[in-house]
Amino acid sequence: MRTQVGIVGAGPAGLLLSQLLALHGIDSVVVDDRSQEHIVARARAGVLEHGSAELLRRAGLGARMDREGIVHGGIYLQYDGVREHLDFRDLAGGRTVMVYAQTEVVKDLVAARLAAGANLVFEVRDTEVDELTSDHPVLRYTTPDGVRHDVVCDVIAGCDGFHGVSRPSIPDRALTIFDRTYPYAWLGILARVPPSTDELIYAYHRDGFALHSLRGPEVSRLYLQVAPDEQLSAWPDERIWTELRRRFALPGWELADGPIFDRSVTPMRSFVASPMRYGRLFLAGDAAHIVPPTGAKGLNLAVADVAVLAEALVALLRDGNPDLADAYSDNCLRRVWRATHFSWWMTSMLHRAPDGDEMREQLQLSQLRYTTSSRAAATTLAENYVGYPPLDLG
Ligand code: DHB
Repeated sequence: MRTQVGIVGAGPAGLLLSQLLALHGIDSVVVDDRSQEHIVARARAGVLEHGSAELLRRAGLGARMDREGIVHGGIYLQYDGVREHLDFRDLAGGRTVMVYAQTEVVKDLVAARLAAGANLVFEVRDTEVDELTSDHPVLRYTTPDGVRHDVVCDVIAGCDGFHGVSRPSIPDRALTIFDRTYPYAWLGILARVPPSTDELIYAYHRDGFALHSLRGPEVSRLYLQVAPDEQLSAWPDERIWTELRRRFALPGWELADGPIFDRSVTPMRSFVASPMRYGRLFLAGDAAHIVPPTGAKGLNLAVADVAVLAEALVALLRDGNPDLADAYSDNCLRRVWRATHFSWWMTSMLHRAPDGDEMREQLQLSQLRYTTSSRAAATTLAENYVGYPPLDLG
């Protein structure tokens, strides 16, 4: 078989890349070792930057997002008995974010790709990418019927996440890895209860960070800082609600609870693989970088990568111009490092260090007071949170 772009991974990065390429008449094959049911069922992130929402609209994926997504013009930062609002519209030139679950973005992408007759292959095994430094890299995989496929490509896009096969196919000597783990994790729940807040609450508390997000008028999404090796079995529903109530407590405000229908523990890590290209293999999304979830940058980085990659591949494969492909990694890594810093900064400011270092606690509280009282500091948070326009990173 032959295709222009072999895409490993049918998450948001791989599917969106295939959609953007198709809009320019470039064909692709997308393979994933998971089932279609699995990729649309997982509860993941939920905040789209201004530019990510715009890009999805331009890719023909805006209809349901604009109907069901909720525009948020700010967040609350809570600490030391106060809850302060940051107004993004005012601070970041009118820009806002869209609360619309990654799961829903993936559902819309799968529907759009299947309706367009795209070649999406689920539940493949033994995926390999090979001959990466030739002009015709090869994507190999076995379909559930046991047939081995060799797809000769012009380019391969590794969109297969942190644990995928693409990045490990690059020789160690060709990559520099930056990696940091954090001494805490998030326990996340979805609960059938209207949100108790109009915008997201990021709360610093001596017992640990908590975040109140939402998935619509009837569903709340809440997170608690827990130990990295925390077992879900140690957290019956009542313990989760008691802990959430303690960390969000504010006179005159109440957290409504309801049935929990999804729960998971997310580890926290910062990771960057550089460069994001080896020969004719281009990495995008979590395959190349991971941020801790605080600030909701992971999905947005994946969207930004594939926007840059699609443009580069159109220039390369349609016009024979390699300039943007050659600039791909540098262009992406500028945004990646900005988001890596922002996510690390938000994480460090809002989480309780397990060693209970009192000096550090005072520094965090000072930073929170500064961020909510100085317009300059509030603007720093706001413009990073709503995201920068593509490539506009100085
Ligand atoms: C959500 C996740 C985040 O990491 C964040 O910073 C804000 C919201 C969410 O899942 O809704």
